[in-house]
Amino acid sequence: MIGKLNHVAIATADLAEAVKVYREMLGAEVSAPLDLPRHGVTTVFVTLPNIKIELMAPLGDNSPIANFLARRPAGGMHHLCFEVDDITAARDRIIAAGGSALGDGKPTTGAHGKPVLFLHPKDFCGTLIELEEV
Ligand code: CO
Repeated sequence: MIGKLNHVAIATADLAEAVKVYREMLGAEVSAPLDLPRHGVTTVFVTLPNIKIELMAPLGDNSPIANFLARRPAGGMHHLCFEVDDITAARDRIIAAGGSALGDGKPTTGAHGKPVLFLHPKDFCGTLIELEEV
């Protein structure tokens, strides 16, 4: 059911520093920052030949990545994003199989302007999963 790995997301407390590492040290193409107030993060995307890396930093007071960074001050891998054809069908299948979606389970608009939702890490080997409809 899941398709391509769309991106790997890395949380960082210092987005400017993370951009510098990817752009200057690693020589990668990095997008301009995008604030996503609804998701409580500011993101940039690093475009590699086979995949994107999402670098994200907290935005606002109740950022969902604040606790993550409190436990890992140096930052770290935050989620994997898999592409799906039909996000509602994918969610229903996962829930029927015993998995759980975060929040109310309704897709929201993600950083690419497409429907996304997140799945609970307890069901996926401790890894937060994002589904994106493409
Ligand atoms: Co993501």
